[in-house]
Amino acid sequence: MKKWYAVIGDPIAHSLSPFMHDLWMVEHGVDASYIPVHVKPARLKESFDALKTLGVGGFNITLPHKQAIVPFLDELDETAIIMDAVNTVTFDGQSYKGWNTDGDGFVRSLMTEQIALHEKVLIIGAGGAARGIAFALKRANFHDVSIANRTYQRAEELAAATGSEAITMQDAEKSLGDFRIIIQTTSVGLAEGEALPLSLDQIQPDSLVADIIYTPLETPFLKAAKEKGCRILNGVGMFVYQGAIAFEKWTGIRPDTEKMIHIITDKLGGNYVNR
Ligand code: ATR
Repeated sequence: MKKWYAVIGDPIAHSLSPFMHDLWMVEHGVDASYIPVHVKPARLKESFDALKTLGVGGFNITLPHKQAIVPFLDELDETAIIMDAVNTVTFDGQSYKGWNTDGDGFVRSLMTEQIALHEKVLIIGAGGAARGIAFALKRANFHDVSIANRTYQRAEELAAATGSEAITMQDAEKSLGDFRIIIQTTSVGLAEGEALPLSLDQIQPDSLVADIIYTPLETPFLKAAKEKGCRILNGVGMFVYQGAIAFEKWTGIRPDTEKMIHIITDKLGGNYVNR
């Protein structure tokens, strides 16, 4: 019988996941569909029960449900336990298992760039997204990672949990030239005209600067880094790879990610060459 998958969130209309997964299903000959489902927080439990009753094959979870879904799941993968948040649920016919593919999605995207594991990495931010990335970098064997955050204590906590180093935003600004890979994970840049989370005055032009945001494709942070001559990486790759890891868990098929990054970038009105 035809299978079906879903993404739940509030809001959900903006999600590009249905577009992406439907395209992959067609391209890879998977007889399945993927639908967006608008779920209000107060109805999360009954919506999950409804998905189960109707035979969902698996689903993605976006804001604001990533943490709230956790108690309802039968099992959690290590990534989801570490994050206390889930973005992907698989169903093996018996139990619903939660995973978090965001951090690994980011690292897979990063690995498409010419970088080495020994390079000095700076993560800006210490929230949920930074947490996923810091643990995924550790799993991928990056061993020189620093974390800077507006609230220093959160940077310290995340650094202690991941064997990284915490630094203040002021010190990060001053020593920015020492870092070859700089990853912006804060919500700064979603709104036009926002200030940068830190000054890029000291940055070296041979650095790679990544942002997890993909709308806009080029955040003010990436724009400023590009003006300094740095290579930039926006959040489209992370979005596509987190979805690809989920797709593979559901279908056993590794979907075409590079082509999808082009398609999503075009859809968002961007020029792939200048991403
Ligand atoms: P997410 O799950 O998207 O990471 P979060 O857990 O709320 O969201 O974390 C948001 C991150 O953005 C935090 O690191 C936050 O810094 P604080 O810990 O000091 O709050 C950071 N952030 C948000 N607004 C910021 C701003 N204007 N300048 C610098 N950092 C900011």
